[in-house]
Amino acid sequence: MIDRSKIEEPVAAEFARFNTEFETSLRSETRLLQKAIDQILSATGKHIRPLLVLLSAKACGEVTESSINAAVFLELLHTATLIHDDVIDETKQRRGVPSLNALFDNRVSVLVGDYILSTALIRSIQTGNLRIIGIVSDLGRDLSEGEIKQMETADESILDEQCYMQVIYKKTATLLAACASIGAISAGADDERVALMRDFGVQLGYAFQIKDDIFDYFKGQQIGKPTGNDIREGKVTLPLLFALRQGGREADELRRIILAKDFTDEHIERLIAFAKAQGGIEYAEKKMEEFQQKAVGLLAQLPNTPAKQSLKILSEYIISRKS
Ligand code: IPE
Ligand code: IPE
Ligand code: MG
Ligand code: MG
Repeated sequence: MIDRSKIEEPVAAEFARFNTEFETSLRSETRLLQKAIDQILSATGKHIRPLLVLLSAKACGEVTESSINAAVFLELLHTATLIHDDVIDETKQRRGVPSLNALFDNRVSVLVGDYILSTALIRSIQTGNLRIIGIVSDLGRDLSEGEIKQMETADESILDEQCYMQVIYKKTATLLAACASIGAISAGADDERVALMRDFGVQLGYAFQIKDDIFDYFKGQQIGKPTGNDIREGKVTLPLLFALRQGGREADELRRIILAKDFTDEHIERLIAFAKAQGGIEYAEKKMEEFQQKAVGLLAQLPNTPAKQSLKILSEYIISRKS
């Protein structure tokens, strides 16, 4: 079990400031909006992205006001995308509490997500750094494109690992890449180091989403959100993609079920059992570890500091976490 406080240690004071500023960043005079904001603030997530920003800054120099701002606006952006994602996925639970769409409805969720996204953009302008604002603007497009491509892939039942990798690159890896690279920029790192940190974030992002996708194969696991939903939505992730690729009669039959979108409870259970029996979980775990190892390998180019050590532990936490 990895000790979270160990990861935070090199940026403990800065992380405390992030927490305060994040809480005060959202406020509205409009009653319904404030009610939704209170709900969001009542259950926060793991804060992996702000930690990545602050540790990347520290590993490249010093945490600045821009680093703190970036930690806040990137967590805001992440929060907004989760609110919209729960509408898209029709998910009723998030971070162990009812999702906004469950508590209110889709209309409220879409608007609250937009409000938080705009709050993030305002905050990014406070850095006064056009390069950072540029990365955030690109990010908004990448995240939406990733979610849309995922929809298209599910609608057309595309069962292809390369396509899966493209989706998770856009919807998840680009955000972690932005966290690490903006962290570096905020500390005044040179272009080469910013590119290195971006690549570190990309590798970490792939590992992160594969881990999230593996969770979905374990029904009843308490991770603060429902599991067993991806296949129902036609989202065929790495373990099942691998299993289907092994061929055989059962694989052919299951592929037909997926193409027909015949996702009854019984069929979903069969698909999950098949993925497990064919070693799909082990395959996905191996891929995830390869990405994490690649990320750790990149850290060799940074000077030895406690922040660098924490980035390494953060990567281990990402692949071993229980939620
Ligand atoms: C969930 O991210 C969204 C994905 C990219 C899978 P996290 O698991 O980091 O969510 P929180 O912020 O900790 O709730
Ligand atoms: C969503 O991925 C990632 C986003 C870009 C929002 P998932 O749909 O797998 O995230 P969860 O499992 O709902 O958190
Ligand atoms: Mg989802
Ligand atoms: Mg998921």
